[in-house]
Amino acid sequence: MSKTIEKLNHVLADTYTLYLKTQNYHWNVTGPQFDTLHQLFGRQYAALALAIDEIAERIRALGALAPATYKEFEQLKSIGTGNSNYTAEEMVECLYKSHKKVVEIIKAALEAAETEDDAFTADMLTERIGAHDKDAWMLASTMKKTSKTTKLKEAS
Ligand SMILES: [Fe+2]
Repeated sequence: MSKTIEKLNHVLADTYTLYLKTQNYHWNVTGPQFDTLHQLFGRQYAALALAIDEIAERIRALGALAPATYKEFEQLKSIGTGNSNYTAEEMVECLYKSHKKVVEIIKAALEAAETEDDAFTADMLTERIGAHDKDAWMLASTMKKTSKTTKLKEAS
């Protein structure tokens, strides 16, 4: 098995784990921000589902079988599986950190793809980094405190 395929297996396992965790939080989030977060998580897991298919099919195109069982994903993944009892804030922070971790895993795969002169895989992974950065930005934006509210009220 090439280094690229080996690293792609890790990317697939972590992307799948993040998909399931995002779906968990879509279902189980509670609190005043429920609707906003429920919808944000919903959009993010739907996009992750498409990415999972793309990564798995790239592994197939490179000639290997794609890992596709919870047992294999458990052995290959780096991120945690999450916690249904988290508060909304903890869920957002957990997802944010997971996206950042997945970017690290993708960068290792990107390095392997570049070393093995696999331009298509490198392109796909570069696009994945952009997608995770965007998701992380959106999650981080919901965590920001609205400290300017008072000033704005005084100025208006
Ligand atoms: Fe839903």
